[in-house]
Amino acid sequence: EKGNFDHFMLKEINEQPKTILDSLRGRLNAEQGYITLSGLDKIEEKLRQAHRIVIVACGTSWHAGLIGEYLIEELCRLNVEVEYASEFRYRNPIISPQDVIIAISQSGETADTLVALENAKKQGATIFGIVNVVGSSIARITDAGAYTHAGPEIGVASTKAFTAQVAVLQLFALKLAQLRGTVDPAFFRQLLHELEAVPAKVAWILDTQVEAIRTIARRYKEADNFLYLGRGYNFPIALEGALKLKEITYIHAEGYPAAEMKHGPIALVDEKLPVVFVATKDVYHEKIVSNIQEINARKGKVVAVVSEGDETVNDLAEAVMVVPQAHEIVAPLLSVIPLQLLAYYIGVERGLDVDKPRNLAKSVTVE
Ligand code: M6R
Repeated sequence: EKGNFDHFMLKEINEQPKTILDSLRGRLNAEQGYITLSGLDKIEEKLRQAHRIVIVACGTSWHAGLIGEYLIEELCRLNVEVEYASEFRYRNPIISPQDVIIAISQSGETADTLVALENAKKQGATIFGIVNVVGSSIARITDAGAYTHAGPEIGVASTKAFTAQVAVLQLFALKLAQLRGTVDPAFFRQLLHELEAVPAKVAWILDTQVEAIRTIARRYKEADNFLYLGRGYNFPIALEGALKLKEITYIHAEGYPAAEMKHGPIALVDEKLPVVFVATKDVYHEKIVSNIQEINARKGKVVAVVSEGDETVNDLAEAVMVVPQAHEIVAPLLSVIPLQLLAYYIGVERGLDVDKPRNLAKSVTVE
């Protein structure tokens, strides 16, 4: 079943050009300039009147939710909160019938997410599911939804399910923005084309960056700690990169918004610490370059994800991983790929069972 790949994780990383396409297929028509999302149509009135959206998830799905927050706020001008399901279910949150809850789950069986939704439903909220496993418990409790169509994910670390979740959130945010009249039509069309171009750009990363990433993996495989930093849409990618590394390599890693570094984590920086910056070319670029300089000044080892053709960071970093240029709204679908590969290859270098990391289960069906 693994085909030519040594592990399911590597196979699933490599499937992403196809799985992202599958999550867009039949929904995105860039040529004609429209999005079809029947699940959203089903609760259109609720969404028009919604006072806020609450996104509920765990782990990697929660990271996708954070990207969803940025997307929906920016494009739809609607309040969004992102909640860890385990906290949300126990703290007696304020929920009203004007709330729309978006549940994100690969397995559709995560116990905390399921119970959080049951509670919200009792209080009258409408639930929209972004779920991978068809007919799963979470899919069944939703009022409407859009499946991610990533196919079965065997590796314990979520990879292709994450990019499918983000792709569906982008469709959702764009479609809702159009309904609410909060997005300029020309910009809307531009983003549809950007989204349509993503699968080929992911394929380019997989075709061209593996050797560079393997070299980085060999160089830093003995590190005890890693920091991952990003801003804006790439902040959740920093969190996701750090989670992948922890799960697969057992190396301690933390993700932070890059500017938050000065508020504590910078104390960790010394000549042994690799700091992975997600430094693609976007509105934050200048700021992140100055964050990189601050790490350099403290002798940290900078590794950076950069945009193709952007040389700014090359002299400041010990190593770079390159991704194609893209609008910052779709960029996280690209910048996460090298970080998945980096965790994978460090895990392999350390001789670990990357498909079944210790202590972890594919779906967490107990609280
Ligand atoms: O199946 P779910 O998306 O609900 O699972 C949520 C988390 O348990 C999951 O994302 C977990 O963090 C993964 N091991 C991440 O790689």
